Amino acid sequence: MRQAGRYLPEYREIRAGAGTFLDLCYNPELAAEVTLQPVRRYPLDAAIVFSDILVIPDALGQPVAFKEGVGPVLEAISSENEIADLTTAKQADHLAPVYETLGRVRKSLPDGIALIGFAGAPWTIATYMVEGGGSRDYAATKGWAFRSPKSFQRLISLLEDSIAQHLIAQVKAGAEVLQIFDSWAGMLPDGAFETWCVEPIGRIVDRVKAAAPDVPIIVFPRLAGARYAAFTKMKGIAAVSLDQTMARQWAAATLQPHLVVQGNLDPVYLVGGGTALKEEVKNILDLFGRGPFIFNLGHGVMQTTPPEHVAELCDSVIRWTPASADA
Ligand code: CP3
Repeated sequence: MRQAGRYLPEYREIRAGAGTFLDLCYNPELAAEVTLQPVRRYPLDAAIVFSDILVIPDALGQPVAFKEGVGPVLEAISSENEIADLTTAKQADHLAPVYETLGRVRKSLPDGIALIGFAGAPWTIATYMVEGGGSRDYAATKGWAFRSPKSFQRLISLLEDSIAQHLIAQVKAGAEVLQIFDSWAGMLPDGAFETWCVEPIGRIVDRVKAAAPDVPIIVFPRLAGARYAAFTKMKGIAAVSLDQTMARQWAAATLQPHLVVQGNLDPVYLVGGGTALKEEVKNILDLFGRGPFIFNLGHGVMQTTPPEHVAELCDSVIRWTPASADA
């Protein structure tokens, strides 16, 4: 989860010479290079393609800019009329550089290191499209969804089409695993969570699985708490990615018997490093390490993370054994 990025000096160097953040996402040579940087530095089991969830609105005709110190900025949409201006017609061409990046990375990755493709989920991408960027309360997006569910579903349906096509194209280009990021799933009240997080993801998974039956799919319904359980019943989901607020014992008892779980390390432990990091890694592995588990963070690596702490983390994970859990 954002394993490349600004905490790495070699990323900052390429980023400085690449133009805007999206210029970097659409530059296959440089995007492949920054995808590979963490794999060269650390003994990782997988690489995630360098791109962003917001290439989707950009490809649909709602341009995205990343402003330094602000984050993503879009011209907000608020009605069905504005959805009519958006189309998947040019998406495959617009996103061709991302597919080229995947092909290049796959060629350079050593055997045994998996290549992960990804997309945002409809709800999370819709929040950026409707709020015009990040938000504190998601009031515009939720307001639209609660007030006019039929018209909001038109936006979600467009995103379902777009995201399913994007994920399938990534598999064709070399992605071996897919992850769907629903970063703002936890902002939805019950009921709405089912309608705007679970069901749209379910329809996307059905379409991706019809085209690529063997590709494992990981879902990240961030901050959804006990509602993660909805995904244990969904066909086609191989794994759920736990954010750092998840009740760990509950997840081990309720989710892990049905699915692979990953994640959960608070990225702030990685900023501090040292004994606190080591102990937390052991806590997580002692609980989840005997079941199907992928060690990962609960959210992206923070910019202030000293790169050597990531090496220490990898070392602690590799050294852990079930026997040390019993000691
Ligand atoms: O590890 C990788 O290399 C994977 C690439 C990746 C990025 N973003 C690159 C990125 C992935 C998987 C994402 C996912 C993403 N992007 C999510 C879902 C996961 C999450 O964090 O909840 C979301 C919500 C976004 C949208 C996004 N992209 C925001 C809000 C921002 C700005 C915040 C910030 O940190 O500046 C980004 C920018 C972004 N995406 C960066 C990177 C490396 C930093 C931008 C830079 O280099 O200037």
